[in-house]
Amino acid sequence: MASTEATPAHTGKFILNNGKVMPAIGLGTFRIRNGDVVMKVMDWALNAGYRMFDTAAVYGNESHLKIALKTLLPKYGLEREDIFITTKLSPSDHGTKEIVEHAYKKSLENLGLDYVDLYLIHFPGTAGIPSNHINNKHIRNETWKALAELYKEGRIKAIGVSNFTVVHLEQLMANNYGVIPAVNQVEWHPYYQPQDVLIYCKKNNILLQAYCSFGGTSSVNMSMMQDPGVNKIAKTLNVSCAQVLLAWALQQGIAVIPKSTSQARINENISINFTIPNEDMKVLNALGSRKIKYAWDPTEVA
Ligand SMILES: NC(=O)c1ccc[n+]([C@@H]2O[C@H](COP(=O)([O-])OP(=O)(O)OC[C@H]3O[C@@H](n4cnc5c(N)ncnc54)[C@H](OP(=O)(O)O)[C@@H]3O)[C@@H](O)[C@H]2O)c1
Repeated sequence: MASTEATPAHTGKFILNNGKVMPAIGLGTFRIRNGDVVMKVMDWALNAGYRMFDTAAVYGNESHLKIALKTLLPKYGLEREDIFITTKLSPSDHGTKEIVEHAYKKSLENLGLDYVDLYLIHFPGTAGIPSNHINNKHIRNETWKALAELYKEGRIKAIGVSNFTVVHLEQLMANNYGVIPAVNQVEWHPYYQPQDVLIYCKKNNILLQAYCSFGGTSSVNMSMMQDPGVNKIAKTLNVSCAQVLLAWALQQGIAVIPKSTSQARINENISINFTIPNEDMKVLNALGSRKIKYAWDPTEVA
């Protein structure tokens, strides 16, 4: 059974619907492409207590993670089983078992691993097919079948999806080849809260994992950090706005994967050991009416 409870501390964990344990806070690595930077950031993160790393084939940094893991796991006395690695199937690799297996093997080779802990379909749409074309649905179904087979063969510890709306989830669940997605990784922050997705996931034991908790990597997207409501709560609780944004998600039973390339901010983002009072949670929940989306939009994908 999936547990939707997480303690609001860096030691918090979620139990996925197949029994696998996943840290509540992981490190996002989108747009960290330089090998030296990946090494530094993962060193700081492991030192701070992060045990989960989120990457994707399209991030172009899997091979940097390989080098960093090879160097850093022995440095911290860690084994492969002590860490949790997520990677994602690229939108250009949707399709038959042959295509999906080839992409998975490539990611394993890049990462220098025998398995990943969580493999996600990155996006419901297939690259090169118009969003509203029905082939997206058929190909996505084929992709899930292939992932389910790899999972049942024991080659992936958990499988899931990303950027799936309720429509996509319902389609998948109607023909899920015996495997319910363990995770749906979606954009989720006070300015964008697709409640229907959260409700559907909770009801079906799919763990929601938030990305863009701070609004993403572009500095023009950082308006939530300036939000008067977020600032007021941060000041009252004597924590940072970033910590408020992460705690807000965790308190809803949602996992987070903040990205940072600064040691101080990496430490800050895993130091979530406070609780946001209910009245303040309501203030943050009310910001959802803004409906500001920063990342790609899956809602038009058939
Ligand atoms: N599945 C998907 O389609 C998808 C899409 C987007 C992202 N993701 C995943 O989710 C992760 C997180 O999302 P994201 O990288 O887009 O953005 P994010 O985590 O919302 O924001 C990252 C930005 O916030 C800054 N930041 C980090 N900690 C901070 C702090 N404590 N105070 C102030 N600023 C802070 C970072 O700058 P510094 O680096 O300078 O600290 C960076 O510019 C990604 O890295 C990726 O792994 C998945």
